[in-house]
Amino acid sequence: MADKVVLAYSGGLDTSVAIRWLKEKHNLDVIAFSVDVGTEPDFPAIREKALKIGAVKALVSDARKAFVDEFVFPALKAGAVYQGRYPLSTALARPLMARLLVETAIKEGAKAVAHGCTGKGNDQVRFDVSVAGLAPELKILAPARDWGMTRDETIQYAQRHGIPLPITAESPYSIDQNLWGRSIECGVMEDPWLEPPDDAFLWLGPLEKTPGKPEYIEIGFEKGIPVAVDGRKMDGIALIQRLNELAGKHGVGRIDYIEDRVVGIKSREVYETPAALVLLQAHQDLEAMTLSKEQRRFKQMVAGEYADLIYNGLWFTSFREDLEAYVESSQSFVSGTVRLKLFKGSCQVVGRKSPYSLYRHDLATYDKGDVFDQSASPGFIHIWGLPARTQAQVQGKKKKGGSK
Ligand code: ARG
Repeated sequence: MADKVVLAYSGGLDTSVAIRWLKEKHNLDVIAFSVDVGTEPDFPAIREKALKIGAVKALVSDARKAFVDEFVFPALKAGAVYQGRYPLSTALARPLMARLLVETAIKEGAKAVAHGCTGKGNDQVRFDVSVAGLAPELKILAPARDWGMTRDETIQYAQRHGIPLPITAESPYSIDQNLWGRSIECGVMEDPWLEPPDDAFLWLGPLEKTPGKPEYIEIGFEKGIPVAVDGRKMDGIALIQRLNELAGKHGVGRIDYIEDRVVGIKSREVYETPAALVLLQAHQDLEAMTLSKEQRRFKQMVAGEYADLIYNGLWFTSFREDLEAYVESSQSFVSGTVRLKLFKGSCQVVGRKSPYSLYRHDLATYDKGDVFDQSASPGFIHIWGLPARTQAQVQGKKKKGGSK
C-alpha cells in the first residue's frame, strides 16, 4: 500500500495537477483537503473534481469560525497591518490551513502534507514554517515549487492526463480570497505603473458607480472585538460579511501598493478588504479614547512586530504568544461604539463613545463647567521645562558661537 499525503486543495489548476503529479512522481495516495475560510467556491464540485482526478479521499473543512475567532480578531485587536497598508488577509489564513493539514495528516495516518505554492511567494514560507512548528516529523511537499513547469506546460500536463481545466475562462489574475480580504496579483498589474483594471475587483465597484449619498454605520466593540453593526448583535462571520457588503458598496477597501515579500522580491499587490479597513480604523479610534498615551505608543510597536510576524509566517511561535499576552491585556476596556461615514471610497470615523472613555468633557471644555485648574499649569511647566532651561543656560551660547 502506498503512503498517504494530505494536499491543501483549492480546485484550481496547480493543485489539480498536483494530485496526479504526487501519485506519478512520489507514488503517494493523495487525500485532497479543502478549507473554507470564506472563499465561497462550490465545495461539492471541488470534492468531486479531486476524486475524479484520482484523489483517494476528498475532505472539506468549514474553518470560518476558527479563522475569525483565532486569527482575524486577534490580529484586529493587535492592529496588525503589514507595512502600514496590508491587513494580512491571505497571511492570516495560512497558519490555520497548515494546522488543519497537520491535524488531518495525523488522523489519516499520512506521513506528508503538500501545498500548491510556488517558490517565489510568501505562502510557501508560511505553510512550511507553520507545519514545521506544529509537527516537525511531517514531510512537506510543494509540487508547484518542484516541477519547474511553466503555466502552459502545466496546462498541457493537465490535458495529457485528462485533468479537467476550469470550465470558466481562467481569470488572468492570481486570486486568493477569504473573509478578511481578496488578494489579486499578476496580469497587467505586474506593470506597477498601470491602474488595476475594473475587472480585477469583485467586491468593490468602480467609484463612479458607488452611491451618491454617504451612509453612516455604527460598530459596537466589546474588549476589542466587534460584536454589533448598527445596534444589531452579530457573530464574527456575519459581521465581517455585512461590513464587506456595506463598505464594498461604497468602494471602501481598495489597496494598491508595492509590497516587500519575505523572499526579497518587491511585488505590486492589489487587495479588496472593505471590512478589514473599516474595523481596523474603528478599533484604533476606540483605543484612542480608552487607552493611555503610553499604552497607545507601546501598542503601536507591538502592532508592527505582530504584523511582521504574521506576514513572515511565524504564527506558531513563542514570540507571538508573548505579543498576544500584551495585546489581550490592553483590550480590557476597549469597549464602546464607533460611528463611521462611508462615501465614494472613503471611510471616516465621525463619532465614538465608551463607558470607559478617558475623554472627560469637564476637563477638555473651554465652556462652562470647566474643572481643569489652569493656575496649576505654570508650576507644572516650570518643572517640566527645567532640563531644557538648564541645558540652554549652560551649553546654549557655546553651541551658537561654535565649538570652542
Ligand atoms: N502578497 C500577499 C501575501 O503575501 C497575497 C498573496 C496572495 N496570493 C495570490 N495567489 N494572489 O500575503
